[in-house]
Amino acid sequence: MAVRPVRIYGDPVLRKKAREITGVDDTVRALIADMRETMHAYNGVGLAANQVGVLQRVLVVDVPVDDEKRERHALINPVIDRRTGSEIGEEGCLSIPGVYDDVKRAKSVRVRALDERGAPVEITAEGYLARALQHEVDHLDGVLFVDRLSLLKRQFLRHRLDALARGERPDAAAPPAASGGTI
Ligand code: NI
Repeated sequence: MAVRPVRIYGDPVLRKKAREITGVDDTVRALIADMRETMHAYNGVGLAANQVGVLQRVLVVDVPVDDEKRERHALINPVIDRRTGSEIGEEGCLSIPGVYDDVKRAKSVRVRALDERGAPVEITAEGYLARALQHEVDHLDGVLFVDRLSLLKRQFLRHRLDALARGERPDAAAPPAASGGTI
């Protein structure tokens, strides 16, 4: 296992659509192990393969539900096939350090995918898990959470995003991570 560098805003791989995986093998499982280790090393609660430069449809989440329980999943070829309601909540992304904003998402989703053994799974999620799954599936389609902000908010953020794309990084005085965790 290894921590892989997280790709930052401006890296073209974050704008590409990841490809479906045709066979779940040890290479895919090694990728998942690295993605989990990377997510934890960066104190994230979700990560998509694009964020480590791999254009395959794989995501991992490790979202705290309460003080004792966490929702941990590694999903291959995830498809959101049901969205219910809507909810606004704060998001931050490991690939967009220092930027946090409110995003409107479906309140609950159903996701069909394969697990790391290649078996079909179905997850019905709400709360921050639903938000994280929508955020990560967006990554696999080359979509970032800032794309879902209003034009006004995107204009407001443009200078910071341009600075990230130029390789500048926010200083330690950046705002704290989104309350639910960075995804
Ligand atoms: Ni993200």
